Amino acid sequence: MSTIQIHGKKFKLSITREQIDEAVKNVAREINRDYKGKRPLLLGVLNGCFMFATDLMKHLDIECEVSFVKLSSYQGTTTTGTIREVIGLAESIAGRDIIIIEDIVDTGLTMQRMVETLGTREPASVAIASLFVKPARLMVPVEVKYSAFTIPDRFIVGYGLDYNGLGRNFPDIYDAIE
Ligand code: IMP
Repeated sequence: MSTIQIHGKKFKLSITREQIDEAVKNVAREINRDYKGKRPLLLGVLNGCFMFATDLMKHLDIECEVSFVKLSSYQGTTTTGTIREVIGLAESIAGRDIIIIEDIVDTGLTMQRMVETLGTREPASVAIASLFVKPARLMVPVEVKYSAFTIPDRFIVGYGLDYNGLGRNFPDIYDAIE
């Protein structure tokens, strides 16, 4: 399928599942190297991270734990700028090495908020692993330590990312056609 349609909007294939797989393995290799001998807590940001978190975990060979939080700042294809925490973090993260697992860093507001929130709970360290980063859209300084793809300012769907709730199930990534 080289083009798909979601809510009447057209998208074209841009990144294949094989390319994603390779890039996720590379991120896992870096994390395996950097966290050897540690026991990081991977903190996935739902809903978008679920495929990335799943595949990434399978390639980690260090001791690690996983938990999820849910935040939301998006409606349609433009950010609303408002961030709501829907599901909070239950466990203590004091003294832990945290790796936030995110699908895509766009304006950076979500990750800025996450890092600020986690910082008040005295973790040993906080790093961000994001499948995608759109540098042209960044509004705030956010350090993404691990990223699989740097992409231009385009709206994408697939591999966990949605357009108004749909499209998360596609194993490949599709770009919106203007
Ligand atoms: P930020 O706070 O602007 O960085 O937004 C991050 C969140 O917006 C991501 O976790 C996604 O849920 C959503 N988002 C940003 N860009 C896209 C996109 O191109 N496709 C789907 N969701 C996106």
